[in-house]
Amino acid sequence: MSVEVEIRFSLNGDELRATVPAHRSLLAMLREDFALTSPRLGCGEGECGACTVMIGGQARAACLVLAVEVDGAEVETAECLRRSDGSLAAVPAALVRAGAVQCGFCMPGIAVTATALLRQKRGPLERREIERALEGNLCRCTGYTKAIDAIEAASREEERS
Ligand code: FES
Ligand code: FES
Repeated sequence: MSVEVEIRFSLNGDELRATVPAHRSLLAMLREDFALTSPRLGCGEGECGACTVMIGGQARAACLVLAVEVDGAEVETAECLRRSDGSLAAVPAALVRAGAVQCGFCMPGIAVTATALLRQKRGPLERREIERALEGNLCRCTGYTKAIDAIEAASREEERS
């Protein structure tokens, strides 16, 4: 028999409640119960980064987190990476501008990882730290160069704003 647990958490700024089976992953809850499509199911084993979300501002693989673990926490997905006027936030906008997106499967995860890094360290990021942060985000289509260029540009932009 599966045990169900009631949790309360913040999702992209909205205070929510959910009743979830104790073994359900955060990724399954976000995709299936809240119809969010940006956290993607890739490997399901913490290896590809396609499911990356922020929990309390930290980039985490949602496939490795149980939904019950976010009780009381703040969860953010790529859906919330927008400015108040609805336009794309700095990182996703820079990724699009730089032509860094091919099939796009990995991009929400990359955008969330880079945004978490930028929030932790305001100001221009060095290429090496961007590369290090993206080590857990696999992209099968691109060579990462344009994505890293874009994140670097976004970090300069954020510093000026
Ligand atoms: S689906 Fe979570 S890391 Fe690959
Ligand atoms: S753009 Fe296709 S996997 Fe990265």
